[in-house]
Amino acid sequence: MSQWTISNSADLYRIEGWGAGFFKINDKGNVAVSPDANGGSIDLCNIVEDLVRRGVKPPHLIRFDGIIRQRAKIIYDSFDKAISEFSYQGNYTLTYPVKVNTQHSVVESVRQCANGRKIGLEVGSKPELLSVLAVHNTPNGLLLCNGYKDYQFIELALMASHLGLRPIVTVEQLYELDTILRASEATGITPEIGLRMNPSSRGAGRWSSSAGENAKFGLALYEIIEAVKQLKARGMESCVKLLHFHMGSQITSINAIKKVMQEAARVYTELRKLCPGLEFLDVGGGLGVDYDGSRTNFDSSMNYTTEQYARDVVWEIASACDEANVPHPNIISESGRALVAHHAVLVTEVMDVAEVPDPPESIEIDSARDDKLVELVNLYNDLSIKNCHETFSDALSSREELLQRFVQGNISLEDRAFAELTLRHLFTRINNLKQSLKHVPEDFEALEGMLKDTYFCNFSVFQSILDHWAIEQLFPIMPIHRLAAQPTRKAVIADLTCDSDGKIDKFIDLRGIQRYIDLHPYRGDQPYYIGVFLVGAYQECLGNLHNLFGDTNAVHVELDEDGIPAITSIIEGDTIKEVLGYAQYTGEELLSGINYSIDRAVRGGMMSAESSAKFMQRYKESLGGYTYLLWESPNSSFMPSNAPVETKRVANQG
Ligand SMILES: Cc1ncc(COP(=O)(O)O)c(C=O)c1O
Repeated sequence: MSQWTISNSADLYRIEGWGAGFFKINDKGNVAVSPDANGGSIDLCNIVEDLVRRGVKPPHLIRFDGIIRQRAKIIYDSFDKAISEFSYQGNYTLTYPVKVNTQHSVVESVRQCANGRKIGLEVGSKPELLSVLAVHNTPNGLLLCNGYKDYQFIELALMASHLGLRPIVTVEQLYELDTILRASEATGITPEIGLRMNPSSRGAGRWSSSAGENAKFGLALYEIIEAVKQLKARGMESCVKLLHFHMGSQITSINAIKKVMQEAARVYTELRKLCPGLEFLDVGGGLGVDYDGSRTNFDSSMNYTTEQYARDVVWEIASACDEANVPHPNIISESGRALVAHHAVLVTEVMDVAEVPDPPESIEIDSARDDKLVELVNLYNDLSIKNCHETFSDALSSREELLQRFVQGNISLEDRAFAELTLRHLFTRINNLKQSLKHVPEDFEALEGMLKDTYFCNFSVFQSILDHWAIEQLFPIMPIHRLAAQPTRKAVIADLTCDSDGKIDKFIDLRGIQRYIDLHPYRGDQPYYIGVFLVGAYQECLGNLHNLFGDTNAVHVELDEDGIPAITSIIEGDTIKEVLGYAQYTGEELLSGINYSIDRAVRGGMMSAESSAKFMQRYKESLGGYTYLLWESPNSSFMPSNAPVETKRVANQG
């Protein structure tokens, strides 16, 4: 076999497909990040190594703000190009739905990403509204208010116009119109109203049920007509400024987008005739991210580019309006996933590996042992390519029979352990023989599942990539170093939680889903880091505190003016005290509880005064510490030491 190279690793992990120019492998065999796509690059492994040296423990969530800027540029450039190509008369505004990643530092990066262009913000709840009111200071900046609303929400939204913002309150349910009118009367503020239609055409992909007859949000056409009638009765029909729809997130097929656009554009032209103040067509979210790099309409992919998306949106609106002789609206898209997904990488460290053991040439057994055990060993020693299928089914029945004998007390624990190991070896050898078979029997598929190593990693699926557990979303995953060497182990990844679902056992693949990932052998004396990429959208706010694992340490990394990587801020993850606070334990209660127990133990002679002081000290230290394991990273001798990572500003906000 020819020698393994970096480009073999690039092909194996499909980094060119999903990396979108932001992620590559450098000539040291480490993942390199180019926040400006194809500009200067940052060695991800160096960043992790530097953080560890500073005492910032993995898991790390590493953010590249430059990627958000670049993604905004790609989206704006695509719309600008389409607008000029079709001589479109309206303009385009990118609006960020803050629910996609509500973290303050991310919203700040988004606000600054548009390079002089205006960026709108969209909220879907009162807490989101309150956070945005405190940071949105773009003069006349769009503030789109979606989601279910009460009087307080609407009143605050209307009052935002006094802050110099442009709030548009979108009616999702007909009852909200009455509340908007009451709040408007009470505040004396003329509302700018949006109407959310519920398109009959559904998107494509996992979230396609966001549109269509049974969708949770949006008005049916007869409700839109009713809303306009009610406004007209008060002479307020010109308050309708915006028509909105949302076809679902991660739309995988361009044809589905075109179809929804045609329907929405027709509704716009009709509504514009009834509401002369109508000015915006807000096409919602849906612009996808190619998580597996396959450029197909598979759930984790998309079969179109951002440019094609922008062209189709602009073209469909322009042609419907031209036909109906209606002025072109200003276009808004609420593209959240496409803006922020790429910017964040979760890096976790392997702590241990349960490996499938290498099978021996032959196994010896005393013929006086249990006959089923002897039979199993004979199966092992007689295995050949000709009998491997038959041996496989015999081994499965032996497994069953030996289990029964154990449960009935007829064989010992040692015999059962011997059988278990022999079966493992046997399955491994059958799996190896499989490669030489012309026709692989269907039942051999089960072998892959039995013969994977488990890499135990310091992170929580439920906190950091909840969608993998909840909806089986695939994320690109790969080691961030050692990529000049061949990864020879087939593995699944297990997290820290005491939950059998806390694992990653589905990985991207050109042909769908792969049930294992190729990893390098774990050498216990050197750290091995694995990156989960494209986790910047949705995962952080959806993440939960299962087993009380909290937010991970997060860092922002930029290239400075001289192209040198700089860690611009470090935001410490949750402390144990903080997560216990969410579970209603205050720090004072915990300390007085533990004090009481220690005191009782000292008085009862179970603990010396000296140990009690040490215990208390450890308890307090842990309370103020990280919720993840403080894993002692083995000293690294193989990691390259590149140019040092410069630290410009370290802000501990944890
Ligand atoms: C109303 C609305 N707008 C925008 C979005 C963001 O969608 P995406 O992340 O696909 O851009 C969503 C998410 O589902 C949504 O519900």
